[in-house]
Amino acid sequence: MAISASASQRILVTGAGGFIGHHLVSRLKAMGHFVRGADIKMPEYEASAGDEFLKVDLREPGNCAAAVKGMDQVYHLAADMGGIGYISQSHAEITVNNTLMDVHMVNEASRAGVGRFLYSSSACVYPAHLQLQPDVTPLKEDDAFPAQPEEGYGLEKLYTEKLCEYVTEDYGMETRVVRFHNVYGPLGTYDGGREKAPAAISRKVALARDGGSLDIWGDGRQTRSFMYIDDCVEGLVRLMRSDYGLPLNLGTDELVTIDELVDIVCEAAGKTLVKRHDTTKPQGVRGRNSDNSRLREVLGWEPTIHLREGIVPTYAWIAGQLMADAAPGAVAQPRSAVAAPSA
Ligand code: NAD
Ligand code: GDD
Repeated sequence: MAISASASQRILVTGAGGFIGHHLVSRLKAMGHFVRGADIKMPEYEASAGDEFLKVDLREPGNCAAAVKGMDQVYHLAADMGGIGYISQSHAEITVNNTLMDVHMVNEASRAGVGRFLYSSSACVYPAHLQLQPDVTPLKEDDAFPAQPEEGYGLEKLYTEKLCEYVTEDYGMETRVVRFHNVYGPLGTYDGGREKAPAAISRKVALARDGGSLDIWGDGRQTRSFMYIDDCVEGLVRLMRSDYGLPLNLGTDELVTIDELVDIVCEAAGKTLVKRHDTTKPQGVRGRNSDNSRLREVLGWEPTIHLREGIVPTYAWIAGQLMADAAPGAVAQPRSAVAAPSA
């Protein structure tokens, strides 16, 4: 059943200390809902706009039970995640952490009688053999099976998608499953090893002197589509409100090469830089794009913000953060310590 846009709900956002969660909490508050955030860390860059914040480890079932208590809806965004440099290593750690979090969250939400549970999955569920060319055929929801997902992170996401389906069938909790395609914007991780390409490249461009060079992972001809955070949040809210219970892509279908992404960031920065490609670094799939046919059909909407538009505030925020970090007397931001290939 579709939910009225105006009814005020009690909503839990897990991963509220992270990138998408932080933006979603602000949006849900602005819509007039009561919002509880939960995360193992406090929001890194700005105070939470939510009504409550539980700083808890959601791998523990008791913490999941406390987090879902009294909630009408749950957006479950918490995950051990990062860009391709991070997720292509630590397969065991990522799988253990996310399995514990996801199974306990789904189970405790169902036991507590949560009305609607949204699970944040990923384009990493799609089979590797469909993503071998830069001019990739956009990925449709039904392409996920027969499965050959990204090792560790992608396989766990696919398994939890199915768990949501089973819990709906057997216990009745309504679930929504979103498959994000590479999301970027202000307040996202831009250093430390978990950063994705738009943030990593923005950081490198901001740190380079005009006329200098920058290092790019791969030959620059691999392709992706990138979705700005405002579109991501809009899509999440629309999907939660809809009556659609199967996995749904949420991304743009604006396919660009990584070299084009670099050019767009350089343009935003007003810098001319020489590209140095490093094919020893992690590259992930050769090409990935979102087929938005079902998204349009189900939500009557799709992301509209072009990469050239979204990169401007993203680059400005990252450049500003780097300047603040470098300022004399600056207090260092807390950073999660992860071992991942450095740029
Ligand atoms: P993020 O890393 O910024 O946020 C995830 C949050 O989960 C972090 O704040 C982290 O502290 C929290 N978390 C990790 N382990 C936890 C634990 N044990 N207990 C409690 N909290 C814990 O990532 P994001 O970009 O905001 O991603 C949100 C969700 O969307 C994730 O599930 C991610 O897998 C999925 N996703 C994101 C993208 C993207 O491009 N950003 C793409 C595909 C899927
Ligand atoms: N991270 C990063 N840093 N990537 C770079 C860099 C760099 O400095 N330079 C070039 N790249 C290239 C990578 O080699 C890869 O081919 C491409 O940019 C995209 O890298 P990421 O943004 O790190 O990851 P991804 O698109 O392969 O996967 C991401 O998106 C999925 C959803 O679509 C990850 O964040 C996954 O966790 C996520 O599920």
